[in-house]
Amino acid sequence: MREPSSLRHVLPVTAEVVNGRLWVAGCDLTALSDTYGTPLYIYDAATLDASVEAYASALRRHYPGPWEIAYAAKAFWCTAMAQWASSRGLGLDVVSGGELAIALRAGFPPERIHFHGNYKTDADLEMALEADIGRVVLDHEGEVERLERLAAARGIVLKVWLRISPGIDVHTHDYVITGRVDTKFGIPLAGGTASEAACRVLRSPHLRLVGLHTHLGSQVFDVAPIARAMERLMDLATELEDEGFTLQELSPGGGWGVPYRPGDPPAPVDAYVAAIGEAIVRGCRERGWPLPRLVVEPGRSLVARAGIALYRVGGVKRQPGRTFVLVDGGLADNPRPALYGATYTALLVNRMGEEPTETVAVAGPYCESGDILIREVRLPSARAGDLLAVPVAGAYQLSMASNYNAARRPAVLWLRDGRAHIIRERESVEDLVRLDHPLPAEEVPSW
Ligand code: LLP
Repeated sequence: MREPSSLRHVLPVTAEVVNGRLWVAGCDLTALSDTYGTPLYIYDAATLDASVEAYASALRRHYPGPWEIAYAAKAFWCTAMAQWASSRGLGLDVVSGGELAIALRAGFPPERIHFHGNYKTDADLEMALEADIGRVVLDHEGEVERLERLAAARGIVLKVWLRISPGIDVHTHDYVITGRVDTKFGIPLAGGTASEAACRVLRSPHLRLVGLHTHLGSQVFDVAPIARAMERLMDLATELEDEGFTLQELSPGGGWGVPYRPGDPPAPVDAYVAAIGEAIVRGCRERGWPLPRLVVEPGRSLVARAGIALYRVGGVKRQPGRTFVLVDGGLADNPRPALYGATYTALLVNRMGEEPTETVAVAGPYCESGDILIREVRLPSARAGDLLAVPVAGAYQLSMASNYNAARRPAVLWLRDGRAHIIRERESVEDLVRLDHPLPAEEVPSW
């Protein structure tokens, strides 16, 4: 494989080169693309499993209390993922009625689900209560009264967490910072707002406060601010002790980063879990508390590396100063470069044995100048018909995909041990107009 050591950590664990072509999970990606068409997304099941094991073994090593890995569905969600997450014993973070409905329809155990979000509709909450899900996470004070009303109407006592905004900044893209002072998420720790909200919940006969949660941001590589946030949450729990609160569950959210390109620094899950585990163990020992259940909520770091986006090269445009390799997907299936300036690498799947000879940009077909998947990448001289792979495509691509320019969302394959299962079909033109209603004849008189 070209640059094997540097590419290794951005490709699925089963990636190998066979006769100059990239294979994953014992499947020839060139052949799969011929069969299923492009753009095509694949997920390597062994990489998904390895990511869960990385979290589980780190938690076993660094956290002697109870723990749970709750997958953040927003990273990529569909029926197959729900089946996989359920079968691996994961918990689940959902953030909308839609994500919850997919989980329930797939038979995901409701008691392992917790419901987040800064805008939960009554209908969403009714669905959550009806299904008897594990926890609802209160995002702001206004939700206390609504939840109380809904729980009272059912005559139940609902277990809740409070999402706290601790006013701690992290180093990542501005759009994915969530725990600083100026954020729409969570209840501010500052000015006693969080403890007031907690006291309200503690007084409620229909709500039981069992845990505290925070999430500082996404694609974060420094665990120190997250560990500090755990200390702040334990300080808050200390304040609430007199009100009868016991910290049974504590969640640092998700947010651990992943490398996208060969040169990006590695992000060992072990170091992340170790720092959080140590902060909680130390804080509890100082206070003489038993260890709470630690609920980590990874999205990207569980699924990103398992996914690859495959595109067909349609042509190469050579211009002074820049060569564009034109591919059949981009902004509509992956808005991350346009939204966050996210950076990726690329490979020519059918020409893995060849050395890169030029620096090119990879551009999609959409009617936006920002539809550039990659601004600079070294590739062998690409030709129409080549198959281009963008690795680390498993998180926040399909889940943020759109139908811009009436793009049809790609098909998705699940690969394991030489088998490929289609888990989502490519959208068809019929799908694009399925919800359309033609105007009645009187609205469209012929001219
Ligand atoms: N928990 C909560 C409460 C969250 O808001 C999120 C992500 C997660 C867990 C999972 O974070 P992760 O481990 O995946 O970083 N679209 C952006 C990322 C948005 C993340 C939103 N919240 C991107 O493509 O970079």
